[in-house]
Amino acid sequence: MSKFATGVTVITTLDPSGTPHSMTANAFTSVCLDPPTLLVCVAHNTITYGYVEAQQRIGVNVLREEQEELGRYFARRPEQREGNPDYSYTMGTHNVPELDGSMVFFNCDIVGSHVYGDHTIYVGEVQEMKSGDGDANPLMFYDSHWYHPAHE
Ligand SMILES: Cc1cc2nc3c(=O)[nH]c(=O)nc-3n(C[C@H](O)[C@H](O)[C@H](O)COP(=O)(O)O)c2cc1C
Repeated sequence: MSKFATGVTVITTLDPSGTPHSMTANAFTSVCLDPPTLLVCVAHNTITYGYVEAQQRIGVNVLREEQEELGRYFARRPEQREGNPDYSYTMGTHNVPELDGSMVFFNCDIVGSHVYGDHTIYVGEVQEMKSGDGDANPLMFYDSHWYHPAHE
């Protein structure tokens, strides 16, 4: 799978106290346009998994190349996160957190799920979409490395 180049997203949810929680994810794809749906695969050993199960809503934030530090940061569990990157959230419809400054934000209701092995595949119906700066370049991940293809 490391030879499959992907973009990078951050999945946003809320913890039980209503505080935003974020996790880096690249197991993400479009499902169909009518209705607008996407899917993400979430490992059962993540904190995010419990929050998605509880809320049945997610935000999917597609990262820009300038957000590599955030991609790295949210790829660790909270107790293992290093550094102090600058980030903020805006609450979207139904209190789904949007990671400010991302290239695209999808606010989704979970409309289907399928457990397979140690992951759950979640199908999200997009309720709201926000597109950021049209000139932004994507952050990518390939061969276990972060890439900025616009500058390669
Ligand atoms: C580039 C990259 C992509 C990742 N994609 C996923 C993914 O699609 N699904 C997943 O469950 N974990 C994925 N991870 C791992 C999670 O980001 C990691 O387990 C994180 O610590 C989970 O955070 P949480 O336990 O706070 O929810 C990915 C990690 C990296 C570096």
